[in-house]
Amino acid sequence: MSADNRPAPAEPVVSVVCGDRVRMLPADPQTTVRHALDTGDLRVRAACGGLGTCGACLITVLEGECNPPTLAERQKLLPEDLAQGQRLACQLYPRGPAKLYLEHPATDAVWKSLDSSCRLRAAGNPALADYPFGVAVDLGTTHIRLALWQRQAGRRIGSRIGLNPQLAHGADVLTRLDAERLAAADSRVLAGEARKAVIEGVRDILSRDLGEITPILAQVGKVLVVGNTAMLSLICGTSGDSLYDPDNWQAPIACIPDDLAAWRDSWRMPHADIEIVQPLAGFVGSDLLAALIAADITAQSAPAMLADFGTNTEIALWDGGRIWATSVTGGPAFEGVGIRNGIGAEAGAIHRVEPGAGSPRLQTIDAAPARGFCGSGFIDAVALLLADGAVKPSGRFAAPQAATGLRLVPENPRTAIFASDIDIFQRAKASTAAAMAQLAEFAGIDLASLDSFWICGSFGRHLHLSSAIRVGLLPALSRERFRLLADASLAGCEKLLLAPDPGKFNTGIAQRIRVLNLGGVVEYENRFIDHLRLQTFGATE
Ligand code: FES
Repeated sequence: MSADNRPAPAEPVVSVVCGDRVRMLPADPQTTVRHALDTGDLRVRAACGGLGTCGACLITVLEGECNPPTLAERQKLLPEDLAQGQRLACQLYPRGPAKLYLEHPATDAVWKSLDSSCRLRAAGNPALADYPFGVAVDLGTTHIRLALWQRQAGRRIGSRIGLNPQLAHGADVLTRLDAERLAAADSRVLAGEARKAVIEGVRDILSRDLGEITPILAQVGKVLVVGNTAMLSLICGTSGDSLYDPDNWQAPIACIPDDLAAWRDSWRMPHADIEIVQPLAGFVGSDLLAALIAADITAQSAPAMLADFGTNTEIALWDGGRIWATSVTGGPAFEGVGIRNGIGAEAGAIHRVEPGAGSPRLQTIDAAPARGFCGSGFIDAVALLLADGAVKPSGRFAAPQAATGLRLVPENPRTAIFASDIDIFQRAKASTAAAMAQLAEFAGIDLASLDSFWICGSFGRHLHLSSAIRVGLLPALSRERFRLLADASLAGCEKLLLAPDPGKFNTGIAQRIRVLNLGGVVEYENRFIDHLRLQTFGATE
């Protein structure tokens, strides 16, 4: 699917009120109110997976037209309650503007549901009758994504995304490793935090989507974990010291936990085979491998590139016979980190900036008041300022700016952009774009000949392609060659979890990968300087 060919997001016309909290939702005829709410903080109670049997997800329709009550609702609710607008959120589809009232929300949780439209369709495996459940985990530096599967039936029970609690020890990999390095005992603490977070995510799925926990945990036969090398080292409880040694950056690093029995015990999963999908190298994790598996990149007959934007951006180029892979720093800027008014992709984050009459038009997540820029909004803003001539291709402002920065909306200080923000962004995009150009050079292909370009990571969800091309973050390819693959690493991990022979599947791709460390490559450093300019690239390189 072309990222820019995505249908425009539906207008947020359904408001859900709960005390002093309000959540705006699109009126999507394919998505229940419960599912739409599950992607945010304000959630209904739930204990039956949305079958309409537990009655926990009560909500009241105050205004607006919705689907008629379903059979499940007519069995669960009294006619007089239905007449007063009471409904089950898991059965409810607003058909236009509506106002709903949620009296008893679920207790706050750090876990949100992932967008289920990206779900993998899978065949079941009848051989897994004894311990049919399996868990796929993508352990990211910032977020943990996971999914619970009934492998025998090939059914995804639920998925979640939550913050990696290790964030408290540092936002990026190196700070996290430094924290671990200061005291060896801390490595166990960090491992414990990540493991606790994963099992809490699984329990959240079980309690809301199945209604029982302990018996299902006992039937989990497999847990598969992918991630970047540092995060995999930390969850294994092993030292990350070896990752500081440049000799190890291109070499495989073994991430093998030495306490599997205790790990299984702490998760109450006595039969689970907990497996870490081994990273490709010190600085290229198995999350990239999983993303490549999700994209099925080696099935393509023409050159293709994949970029997984995150705290570290991992990039791979398939030239028809070999995969060239590398990893570059700079990703935090794409997640709003380091930008003065940068925030994550959360309610109030400006994710789209478009020209408007007078001042630019801003779109925020959940249509909430603007609180700052997430990565895609910032890129849009820079592209617009470039087009207006307010920012030069060198990254400098055309006119001196006040100490309060250049405000897109004069009365809102959270819309201000500062020179230092543009500088941070330029470095991030230069390291990324230069790496793409350098991989193409190594592979002996022209970026313009790429048949497809996969954009992975949550960053891609809101990314406006023309802006990313305009500022020189992505090569200037035609729109139809871009493909969005959100939650790619989790999707690849799920494929491995369900594959009858995951080892063969995994090795088939891993053997074709050549990992490159661009640090110290003079050509790359020169390209980095060139790519600091805010201009398009890739059409002629
Ligand atoms: S009745 Fe809606 S989640 Fe159980």
